[in-house]
Amino acid sequence: MQHTLFLLHGFPHDRTLWDGNLGALSDTAKVIALDLPGFGNNTYHPTTTTMEAMALDVKEQLAQHGVERIVLCGLSMGGYVAMAFMEQWPELVSGAILCNTRSTADTEEAKAGRGTTAQDALEKGMTVIARGMLPKVLGATTRRERPALVAQVEALMARQSAEGVAAASRGMALRPDRTGILRAFTPPALVITGAEDALMPLPTSEAMASAFPNAQLVVLPAAGHLSNVEAPDAFNTAVSTYLRAL
Ligand code: MLT
Repeated sequence: MQHTLFLLHGFPHDRTLWDGNLGALSDTAKVIALDLPGFGNNTYHPTTTTMEAMALDVKEQLAQHGVERIVLCGLSMGGYVAMAFMEQWPELVSGAILCNTRSTADTEEAKAGRGTTAQDALEKGMTVIARGMLPKVLGATTRRERPALVAQVEALMARQSAEGVAAASRGMALRPDRTGILRAFTPPALVITGAEDALMPLPTSEAMASAFPNAQLVVLPAAGHLSNVEAPDAFNTAVSTYLRAL
């Protein structure tokens, strides 16, 4: 049976985050990269976009693509959305790949930071946000050795809508701890992270892999927070291997 793989990007990105993965992954699944609400061509953005609202948008895309069950692959914020989806509609999820993300809620300090990011996006603009985020989202190896990729990721973040980014930032602050959702998820799962991810340190991914009843953890060397972009070949191999076994 061919699986349908929904790819959910992180913050503040859009579906083009997955451009380097679509071709390779299409050998093993029907692959669909989505723009989450407020990003790319998906222009819905109220003042606050919760992860639940994003999950509902993903659910609506199942019908649009004529599929009944999906494998969800979410990176960082996309992982938060995947977990919100798994909570609401577990029967629609045949597999889960959580990349560079966490199942826990924000600390009070992180929540306050979300408000500042939202305000800065609206008042200073996305060029300033993108410049500020760059050192955190890419690993040291990428920043040192791949200037063209660094520029590409900066441009991807800078072209997102400030309103969409502000709304998603406020929404991320509201998400609950969803570790229990992982414990209840019975299909095989895959957790991927980058060895140089400064935003989601390795213990975060180890904890998620342990919470799932049946999960494998893959740590990609020389990759930071955007593991699918920084180490696409290793990422594609990990996902394809998982899909074939599913
Ligand atoms: C992301 O890459 O989606 C963000 O780092 C998520 C977050 O800010 O928690």
